[in-house]
Amino acid sequence: MKSAAFLMLALGRPAHIGALAPSSRRLADAMAHEAGRARCMIELGAGTGAITAALRERHPHLPMLAVELQPALADALQGRWDGVEVRCGAAHHILRHEAPRLPGETVVVSSLPLRSLPAPLRTSTIDALCSFVGAHPARRLVQYTYQPRAPFSLPGSSPLRWQRRQRVWRNLPPADVWVLERATAS
Ligand SMILES: C[S@@+](CC[C@H](N)C(=O)[O-])C[C@H]1O[C@@H](n2cnc3c(N)ncnc32)[C@H](O)[C@@H]1O
Repeated sequence: MKSAAFLMLALGRPAHIGALAPSSRRLADAMAHEAGRARCMIELGAGTGAITAALRERHPHLPMLAVELQPALADALQGRWDGVEVRCGAAHHILRHEAPRLPGETVVVSSLPLRSLPAPLRTSTIDALCSFVGAHPARRLVQYTYQPRAPFSLPGSSPLRWQRRQRVWRNLPPADVWVLERATAS
């Protein structure tokens, strides 16, 4: 999908898309780098596939599930990469449904617009992400955000911790890449 088509979609559903342009090549590379080693990958909010392409380049043989809420975007991703299963649906439903069959060493790479999602969807999505990452010490979530703070706050009792890994200036707007994992994992 071209940038202009993405912009039209974003203007129609700003809270669900959360960006005016697809992720830049630099941001996609930074996300793929932070994904590191894993046995399986889930990409949430795959959108136009900018980050999917970088993940496939860096990790061509890992089984991967790409999740996208908007049918038009999900349709455009279907069949573009060998080894990538594309699902159209809400991230929290798919994460909860897939969790039992996925290996412990699964990394989640997310472009979800967590700050702008409607409140009930935001809460369900964050709960599902925290449960998924907390279920195994090798799991982590790689998430970018445009604001200078963690993508979402954790309660003091949470076993998970955020770490800011890098800032990517060459993106519209510039973005920070954060990793969420168990406090004892690194
Ligand atoms: C910032 S945009 C996509 C960025 C993507 N990296 C790209 O370059 O195209 C965020 C994407 O998350 C999707 N999305 C939003 N809420 C979602 C949800 N609950 N489950 C799955 N996808 C969601 C939107 O439809 C949108 O495509």
